[in-house]
This record gives sequence, C-alpha cells and structure tokens, in this order.
Amino acid sequence: MPARVRLGVVGAGNVARLNVAGYLRHPRCDVVAVCDPVPGRARAAADDWGVPRAYADLADLLADPEVDAVEILTPTHLHHDHVLAAVAAGKHVSCQKPMANSVAEARAMAAAARRAGVVLRVSECFWHYPPLEHARALIADGAIGRPSHVRIRTVVGQTDSAFQVGLDPDGYGWRLDSRSPGGHLFDDMVHKYATALWLVDADIVSVQAVVRRRDLFFEPCAVLFEYDDPGLLGTMEVTYAPEMWMRSSYYGADEFFEVQGDEGLIWVTRCTGEMLDLPPVVLYRGDRHDPRTTTFPDLDSDWGSGFQRSSAHFVDSLLAGTTPDMTPEDAVRVLQLCFAVYEAGNTRRRVDPRSVSGSVVPAGWAEW
Ligand SMILES: NC(=O)c1ccc[n+]([C@@H]2O[C@H](COP(=O)([O-])OP(=O)(O)OC[C@H]3O[C@@H](n4cnc5c(N)ncnc54)[C@H](O)[C@@H]3O)[C@@H](O)[C@H]2O)c1
Repeated sequence: MPARVRLGVVGAGNVARLNVAGYLRHPRCDVVAVCDPVPGRARAAADDWGVPRAYADLADLLADPEVDAVEILTPTHLHHDHVLAAVAAGKHVSCQKPMANSVAEARAMAAAARRAGVVLRVSECFWHYPPLEHARALIADGAIGRPSHVRIRTVVGQTDSAFQVGLDPDGYGWRLDSRSPGGHLFDDMVHKYATALWLVDADIVSVQAVVRRRDLFFEPCAVLFEYDDPGLLGTMEVTYAPEMWMRSSYYGADEFFEVQGDEGLIWVTRCTGEMLDLPPVVLYRGDRHDPRTTTFPDLDSDWGSGFQRSSAHFVDSLLAGTTPDMTPEDAVRVLQLCFAVYEAGNTRRRVDPRSVSGSVVPAGWAEW
C-alpha cells in the first residue's frame, strides 16, 4: 500500500477549486502538479494552491514520474481522450462526471483502465453530500420500510453568489453547443440520475419522459422511472424559474429529494442551494402508536462538502487498496439513464436504459 498519494490536476477551470480543496486538505495527499493549456492558468492555480509544478501540456504532466494519480477536470467531450492518455501512462484516474459523451466512449475508458491495471472512478459529488448519504443510510437501515417511490426535483433560478459571479463564462461554451449531447439536462442531470439509482440501490428498467425546449434546453422536463422492483417507481422534474432569485453559495439551483416507504418517508430538503429554512434531512416514521418526525439539523449541508469528500474518498481508496465509487460500470448506467430520457422524450415511448449503447441528443439540440 502506498503511504501517500501524489496527485496531478488536469484542468484548472471553473469547477477545479471545489474538487481540489479535498485533495489539498487530505493529510496523506500531495498535489504535486497542475496542467491547463490556457496561458497562465496552470501557473496561477499552482501558486494559489501551493503546488510545485505547472504544465501547459497534458503529455508533460503524464510523463511526470512523481504523479501517481490524476483528477480530470476538463470539459466532458475531452474526458475520453484524457482518461485514455492517463491510463496509458499508468496513472490512477478520478474523472469528473459526466464520464463521457456516450456510453460507447465510457465503456472504452473502463476497458482501457482494466487492461492497464489502474483505478478509474468517476467523481460524483452528490454521492458524498452528507444529507444524501445520511438519507441513504436511513433507508438502508429500514427507517421508512420498503421504499415505494423516489421523487427528485430540480429547480434552476438566479443567484448572484460570489461563486456564480466568479465563474469564467468560457467554461459554458462547450456545454451549450454540439460538443455536448444536451446541455444542462445532460451536464447537471447526471447527478440526479446517479442519485436515483444510488439512493435506493436499485436499477431502473424503464423510462418515460417529456422533455421540452426553453432557454438553455433544460426545462421543463418530467420523467417517470420504473425500477427493477415492481413495487418501486420514481419521478424526476426539472424546472426553470428565470425570475426567481434563490439563496445559494454556489450555482443558482437547488434540489429536493423525497423517498416514500411503506412505513414512513424521508426528505432531503436542499443540495446545491439553500432555498428553504428547513433542516437538511427530515424523517417521518408512521408507527401506529408513536408516529413522529425526526429532523437532522446538524448535518453538514454545505454542497461544497460533497466535492471535498469525493476527492478524499478517492485518496482513501487508493491508500487502502479498495474500490472507490463511482465505478465505471455505475457511470455507464448513469449515462444510459440520461440518454434513455432523451430517447423517451424524442419518441414519447418507453425506453429501457439498458438498451442504450451510444449517445442520444434531444430533438432540436444545438440548432439555434
Ligand atoms: N460535480 C459538479 O457539480 C460539476 C460542476 C461543474 C462542472 N463539472 C464537470 O467538471 C468538468 C469541467 O467543468 P468546468 O465547469 O470546470 O469547465 P471549464 O471549461 O471551466 O474548465 C475546464 C478546464 O479544462 C482545461 N483544459 C482543456 N483542455 C485541457 C487539456 N488538454 N489539459 C488540461 N486542461 C485542459 C480548460 O482550459 C479549462 O480551464 C466537466 O466535465 C463538468 O461537467 C462538475
């Protein structure tokens, strides 16, 4: 087992500061290099983070023998090539979600990592967000009995948080043209598809969806999931409220999760934003002689913690020799779910996500 992990950061754009904080704070991780082709960007990040080496070329970072593992934070359409290059160089890889722009690319990345004998995982901050982790543990412990319905709601509005104001607008271009298979509904919703699978640890075998076009192609959208358990359904809604300002320390969005079970229900009342004055997790147990609501007000509910904990989890797993989440196989299922939503929206027919092997774009995407 290694005593420490020496990490290289690939891409110092908008999201880097959230992810890299978890590596910088880890007592057994050394961030030794950062790479970005935008002139001056890698150097500025290296100076900011106290990192010794800055590269403009990925090949130079990958040739650095003092880099054991990399965090890939580049635009999604580049993940495939960058992950293949990193595993060919013998580096362990943590790659930001979405894993790739197609299921075929993601499978090729997984196969390459297997062949090279290196770890490849996808960094999914929602899986490490403490209120969601707590809710999942309660569900697994039987706190609500047998789950029967998962509801996931996303609302996108406006914010002038320092984080949002500080974003480089160039980081949005690649999301909103043909370099992405669907813009926000792809880039952000992968978190929600991942959570729909993970929260109840069940597979989804059928998707029906209505996907409509508006300003950024992310709204409105309504989805019905059938899980492989016939007693369990899921629904997902994505809405846009362009005139609604919301409290947030990050992006102008928030999410709410509700899981109904035979014996009770659980809410996660916030995620990216801080809209509602509610404890982050609320549990109602309907015991006949003692029905009661329990709240969990003291959980760490800072959305940024999900990123830091996800980074720390990668380091801990490399140090312990255990398999980190999210595995490439999990990430493939997430992509299949995403494209199944597009396919179902395009055809208005039921789609089995397991049938998706490539990529699907919503009708009319990037044609403005
Ligand atoms: N977990 C989340 O909630 C979350 C939030 C935002 C973004 N993301 C994901 O993170 C990734 C990056 O998003 P972003 O918003 O930071 O984008 P961005 O465009 O702001 O940053 C990407 C950076 O990668 C750099 N880059 C491009 N080619 C490179 C190369 N060959 N070598 C090294 N660096 C290179 C760019 O110059 C840029 O600085 C995307 O996959 C995105 O979907 C995740």
